[in-house]
Amino acid sequence: MNQLIVGNWKMHPATLLEAKEAVSRIKRGIKALPRVQVVICPPFVYLSEVCKSLEGTKLSPGVQDVFTELEGSFTGEVSAAQAASCGAKYAIIGHSERRNLGETNAVIAQKAILAIRSGLTAIVCIGEQERDTHGKYFSVLKDQLTHSLAKLSQTELKKVVIAYEPVWAVGANVAMSPGQIHETGIYIRKVLSDLYDPAAAAKVPVLYGGSVGFENARDILREGEVDGLLIGRQSLIPEDIIAIAKIAHDLK
Ligand code: PGA
Repeated sequence: MNQLIVGNWKMHPATLLEAKEAVSRIKRGIKALPRVQVVICPPFVYLSEVCKSLEGTKLSPGVQDVFTELEGSFTGEVSAAQAASCGAKYAIIGHSERRNLGETNAVIAQKAILAIRSGLTAIVCIGEQERDTHGKYFSVLKDQLTHSLAKLSQTELKKVVIAYEPVWAVGANVAMSPGQIHETGIYIRKVLSDLYDPAAAAKVPVLYGGSVGFENARDILREGEVDGLLIGRQSLIPEDIIAIAKIAHDLK
């Protein structure tokens, strides 16, 4: 399985022109990297233009969220079906910045099922707010996984990616240590294999996110034993995300 490198652009960059320039640099930079899958999730307003410029390339477009309905009177919202019709292939669901705005596991479960039924791969985010010394974060992660995936069948699981992002490491100065990432990844895979057929669960890619850059990407991928990375800040700098993609590509 190729490593999956996902860039979450959040509410950046400031203009469509900058977004188009960054996308064209990234797509050129990853052209000769067949063993890595790179995804860029721009703001919704840039999606159509970004998708147009990515047609026929190795760089895949995604979105940062979808709504809990497919169509209707929901001012300001965007559905998974609409995102898919513009060319999106992936949807980040339940990012901690959205959970912080009040998004619950039930809402995330609904968004995930609609994303998948619309043909998108759902990148479902989980992560504890803090690491206590008693290991309570394990039950937080189990709860998030169980309830965020509650509506998905075994078949639909094929279109799921789990992004483990400890909230305290998102937008911070240091990432979680590769050893802790490895340990948590094992736990996540164990919970998945309790929820689904173990063979199907074992195929679900588990990504790490939170203060990943080209400086620590190799150690996190190798020692953390994850299937890829979800990157915020460094995904906005074409040279940096290209460097990370190259690290992932050269790993095997
Ligand atoms: P960061 O963000 O890489 O800037 O820490 C990660 C994310 O929010 O997905």
